[in-house]
Amino acid sequence: MKEKVENLDWNNLGFNYHDLPYSFTAKFFDGQWHAGELTEKSTIELSEAAEVFHYGQEVFEGLKAYRRKDGKINLFRPELNAQRLADSAARLGMEPYPIDAFVESVKTIVKANEQFVPPYESGATLYIRPFMIGTTRVVGVSPATEYTYHVYATPVGAYVNGLIPAPYTVSEYDRAAHAGTGRAKTSGNYASSLIASAQAHQDGYADCLFLDPREHKYIDEFGGANFFGITKEGQFVTPKSASILPSITKRSLLELAERQGLNPVERPIEFSEIDQFAEAGAMGTAAVISPVGSITANGHKHVFYDEKEAGPITTKLYNELIDIQYGDRPAPAGWIQTL
Ligand code: PLP
Ligand code: COI
Repeated sequence: MKEKVENLDWNNLGFNYHDLPYSFTAKFFDGQWHAGELTEKSTIELSEAAEVFHYGQEVFEGLKAYRRKDGKINLFRPELNAQRLADSAARLGMEPYPIDAFVESVKTIVKANEQFVPPYESGATLYIRPFMIGTTRVVGVSPATEYTYHVYATPVGAYVNGLIPAPYTVSEYDRAAHAGTGRAKTSGNYASSLIASAQAHQDGYADCLFLDPREHKYIDEFGGANFFGITKEGQFVTPKSASILPSITKRSLLELAERQGLNPVERPIEFSEIDQFAEAGAMGTAAVISPVGSITANGHKHVFYDEKEAGPITTKLYNELIDIQYGDRPAPAGWIQTL
């Protein structure tokens, strides 16, 4: 059933799906992408033999639209999501959806559902989920030659706890193989993380951290966000790994951390180093910056700055990032598109 705007409580949205008036859809067949369009249909009808159901040929993105104080709407670096979707598609053997068409589809769906972009004061956002699936009917394992690109949007609140730290644990499972699909945003990586995070929730943690799949020695990332640590000397450190998603939030925070004199570095981080970090966080579109209060592994609990309060560097980075996203302070050139 379609959501009614008057039924939404902007301050208590959680991170849930609401069926909005418009989605966007485009198709690839006969060797080319055909012009996409808005649709009121929020369902997709497919053959039972469609590639996506059996061999998982799917890639997706997540980005947000931010209501500014002046009522206009900001998008944050959408062309980077477009490029990542194209890279993910190439890894999964699919024809990329054109970059310009992606950005245009995002603008179109935001404008069409404008009344569902939450008010500035709520701190909530409109989450946009573009995805692409292989739709060709197959029995044997071979890539699809027909795809659907589809975008939905839904208003969301915080994914974790906002700026309140949360406890994490370490997964015994891997989410992606070393030379596998970890760098692609594809459903299989999330499917393999589901029981790991369900177990973490059951044990009282917000989520789990995955280690590198070859040695279980290095920090990889969380199920839906990259990891960063702040050393006792005040350096911003984030993992370099072949099996993690290249996060746009991470890329942006590396630049902001440089400006703040945090001497940022991307390098392999041994899990045994966590005791060296004074602060830690999860970073991503949904997570924004979610402070990590503690990480527990093998009966050892490492508490970062404080289990109840975010550390000063995490807080400063969080404020700078969200101020830029909402248009409350100037952004580096090209980061913001205002609708
Ligand atoms: N890592 C994973 C596994 C994710 O799902 C996400 C979310 O998109 C991220 C990292 C963060 O990426 P971004 O900052 O581009 O949202
Ligand atoms: C995002 O941050 O956009 C994601 O896709 C992460 C997901 C776990 C909600």
